[in-house]
Amino acid sequence: MDKLKIIGNSEMAGSINIPGAKNSSLPIMISSLLTTKKLHLSNLPNLNDIQVLKKLLKSFNVKIIEKKNFVVFDSSKARNRIADYDLVRKMRASILVLGPLLARFKEAKISLPGGCAIGNRPIDIHLLGLEKLGVSFTLENGFVSGKVKNNLKGNSIILPFASVGATENILMAAVLAEGKTEIINAAREPEILDLAENLNKMGAKIKGAGTNKINIDGVKALSESEHHIIADRIVAGTYIIAAIMTNKEFVVKKINPNYLKSLILTLKKMGAKLKIGNDFIQILPSNFLQGCNIETNPYPGFPTDLQAQMMSLMSIVKGNSKIKEKIFENRFMHVSELNRLGAQIKVKNDTAYITGNRRFKGAQVMASDLRASVSLVLAGICAEGQTVINRVYHIDRGYEKIEKTLGKFGPNIRRVK
Ligand code: UD1
Repeated sequence: MDKLKIIGNSEMAGSINIPGAKNSSLPIMISSLLTTKKLHLSNLPNLNDIQVLKKLLKSFNVKIIEKKNFVVFDSSKARNRIADYDLVRKMRASILVLGPLLARFKEAKISLPGGCAIGNRPIDIHLLGLEKLGVSFTLENGFVSGKVKNNLKGNSIILPFASVGATENILMAAVLAEGKTEIINAAREPEILDLAENLNKMGAKIKGAGTNKINIDGVKALSESEHHIIADRIVAGTYIIAAIMTNKEFVVKKINPNYLKSLILTLKKMGAKLKIGNDFIQILPSNFLQGCNIETNPYPGFPTDLQAQMMSLMSIVKGNSKIKEKIFENRFMHVSELNRLGAQIKVKNDTAYITGNRRFKGAQVMASDLRASVSLVLAGICAEGQTVINRVYHIDRGYEKIEKTLGKFGPNIRRVK
């Protein structure tokens, strides 16, 4: 299994173009199942999760044609088959095939994703919404099977929680349902807006995406279209935090800073010097950084996917900080590893208490999930001495060759087998 070896005390200077968002790419690639026409996608990131999804789509007989600057998804000959545990367990977002398969083939059988490292993560809200559109589900032997009698029928659906995945699953199914659907208390993440814009280009009639009420007017069929995936706000946020930790001038480019408002606000409160452009954020060195208290929340609140990275930063600034994790239970697995690197963090229930003014010191650590692992990379590049991060495959799910990406700007970081 690959490891990352980092020699710390790094400086980091330069500018980076942020690639396409993983969390937009996955549902948008899956949306190709809704149509017999081709979907052309550009700005897909080069990540393991994207490869896993391509495999899953190929298992449904979707033809995937790789061109120089875009990828074509041709579902004209797609057929329905069981999405088995082996693929679904690797990536929870596989559950998003449920809505499109039911809309197109009227039945679907998918292995339940089960729990994962960052919590229980049930799919009850996905099922509740799809049931409202006319699907009957049975759960048996670890599989969920859905059937639609004639056609999906539009309805009013109130989500008990603004789940990102459930909003996407229901939205995709509703596009081909008869009549009108409204999703109330929908998630508002930019990736949902991106999915809706892609679906509208395919011929769907969706209004209100990006707000908590989405209206969908069902259509009979979708047409050929193309779409450019938005930049990854979590990758952008990660490199912004890395630049603040290394305290040199750095520019994060090709992004929409509007999607990073809660992060920008928090970092400015901590004393970071940021210059916000139309499509870039420039990070300038700052002489005084101090701790603060945050809580994670659905968008536009502070993203849970940047919580671990913030914890690394909070460990080295003056004063103490507090992070309350309100989206996932058990999303503090990086705490013990950061403590191995010299942090002083205590967890009580859903809150982490971070003592500031610490100095990271290199050690052997273990990556436990995607964002947890990258927080260790950030700590490693600031640490004294050598840090070795085991189980790097977690990082490859969401960051393109991080050793090369970051290595270009100064940090001494190398992958070893
Ligand atoms: C998506 C993102 C993930 C991010 C998360 C929250 C993708 C591929 N992944 O995950 O990176 O961390 O949003 O911003 O876009 N829940 C239920 N029942 C359900 C669905 C969810 O109880 O049916 C709970 C989950 O257990 C979790 C919370 O709701 O505690 C948030 O989950 P959700 O918003 O659905 O996140 P994902 O779509 O899985």
